[in-house]
Amino acid sequence: MKITYLGHASLSIETRDKTLLIDPFITGNELAKDIDIDKLHADYILITHAHQDHILDVEAIAKRTGAKIISNYEIVAHYAEKGIEGHPMNHGGKAKFDFGTVHYTNAIHSSSFPDGTYGGQPGGFVIETNHHRLYIAGDTALTYDMKLIPEIIGELDLAVLPIGDNFTMGIDQAIRASKFLDCNKILGYHYDTFGYIEIDKNEAFTKFANSKKDLILLPIGGNLKI
Ligand code: NI
Ligand code: MN
Repeated sequence: MKITYLGHASLSIETRDKTLLIDPFITGNELAKDIDIDKLHADYILITHAHQDHILDVEAIAKRTGAKIISNYEIVAHYAEKGIEGHPMNHGGKAKFDFGTVHYTNAIHSSSFPDGTYGGQPGGFVIETNHHRLYIAGDTALTYDMKLIPEIIGELDLAVLPIGDNFTMGIDQAIRASKFLDCNKILGYHYDTFGYIEIDKNEAFTKFANSKKDLILLPIGGNLKI
């Protein structure tokens, strides 16, 4: 499984033969100006919640690639009206796809579309393939519910956690989250895109290392393999 960071909370995940895009917000992110959305491949687009900084490029990419949306019921219904196909889920549910199984997990946040319409309840995803299990938290506060993930779904290879604070968890709570998740390998996201969420990266690395957790921060366009 190859995970490429596309800036902010946007990821591209290549499994053996499918590509999943997560929360594409690229054309609105000055820091991601070297990523060309017309060159991104996608078989599926997974959307954690309806905020602008998670959905901005969904429509353009889905219409060009024919990618299918996986998200909560309300977000899938919103894109169905635009002629984009999707698979609706809700918290606690899992569904099988041709690349593996997706669980829609709880997140403590909000989820309205940019025009104020209801975007369902925010979530995160656990993606399981034959060989890997990956948790993508979405925008969320620290929540005790995270303890249930390894307990119910199984051991994680990697957890992708927001670390930018202000709108989500910050560094200290993300460390606590990685303990709840029983996961030592953390990919940080949702930081530095705009002023409210700028972080001190050295402080983040030091604090994670002091807690014996491995924090990975990728350059935009950079990738890691699990
Ligand atoms: Ni949000
Ligand atoms: Mn966000």
